[in-house]
Amino acid sequence: MTIRATVIGVGHYLPDRIVENAEFEKTLDTTDEWIKSRSGIERRHFAAEGQTTSDLGTRAAQAALDDAGLAANDIDAIILATSTADLTFPSAATMIQTSLGMTRGFAFDVQAVCAGFAYALANANALIVSGQAKRVLVIGAETFSRLMDWTDRGTCVLFGDGAGALVLEAQDGQGSNADRGILSTDLNSDGRYKDILYVDGGVSTHSTGHLRMQGKEVFRHAVEKLASTANAAMDKIGMTADEIDWIVPHQANIRIINGTAKKLGLSRDKVVVTVQDHGNTSAASIPLALSVGKERGQIKPGDLIVTEAIGGGLAWGAVVLRW
Ligand code: UT7
Repeated sequence: MTIRATVIGVGHYLPDRIVENAEFEKTLDTTDEWIKSRSGIERRHFAAEGQTTSDLGTRAAQAALDDAGLAANDIDAIILATSTADLTFPSAATMIQTSLGMTRGFAFDVQAVCAGFAYALANANALIVSGQAKRVLVIGAETFSRLMDWTDRGTCVLFGDGAGALVLEAQDGQGSNADRGILSTDLNSDGRYKDILYVDGGVSTHSTGHLRMQGKEVFRHAVEKLASTANAAMDKIGMTADEIDWIVPHQANIRIINGTAKKLGLSRDKVVVTVQDHGNTSAASIPLALSVGKERGQIKPGDLIVTEAIGGGLAWGAVVLRW
């Protein structure tokens, strides 16, 4: 018998305010056409004033718990992937723990920027497989609108706010690729690329700072590294891309999404795409896409899914799971 970290609930939350591309035309030298053609983004959601990452994360987590038919105290651990925690400390995960009414177990944040959800899933899988937790709530929640330089047209039109969550539970598998649950993970980082995607502030430097990105450089790394981490995760369990039902990529740019799918030899109808409606929500983008993909009727029980993401660090990774 093999223990598998299996998805038993999924949910998401998007803030009410929707900003269409055309709104940026009023304040920036940009067009709806440029944003759409270069990134695939048509609109994004922004959190209301005073609405924090833990607020968004709590709503998504509650939706995932409801989907699983569980109460907060049925959960052993919360892992929140975020780079935009409410406060320097405590972790936003512990704030979500309290907001959910969870009075047991433990909660912590994982910070791997846009790759955060892959890192959080890999950590949740390790906790479950090693017997340290039976049920883990894995959340991606971000308020990247707080990090934008609204005069920088090369970044501020690309990002959005939102949250998504999964409930993972230890279930018995046979040890084969036919098992439901997480089958393989692959994580990577290389700090030498810090300067192409970072925030120019922080606790031990000075202010909160703003997101800075050399978009073309990040793009150049993205397709190659995303395809190679997805292939590495599949290789670990002897799988090939033709077995995949869905690729659920980090939603940063439709050209990166399509380029990676092509490199993996997958047709576009096997890709869950939400970037047009959410923009880049960093660590929230994969759980948001999983939740929306399920709602749309794309993702069904038993489907084989590969998720992959890359972001600041650079940090990148992939997870293979059977839904
Ligand atoms: O989630 C973390 C990972 N992040 C990513 O994956 C993002 C990766 N990068 C990208 O998605 C793309 O590089 C961008 C969407 C950011 C940019 O697309 P691009 O095709 O690489 O454009 P570019 O940076 O080469 O810019 C082309 C032109 C430039 O003008 P010049 O120098 O050619 O005259 C920019 O100044 O487009 C200009 N530009 C804009 N024009 C209108 C940059 N931003 C805008 C804008 N509106 N908002």
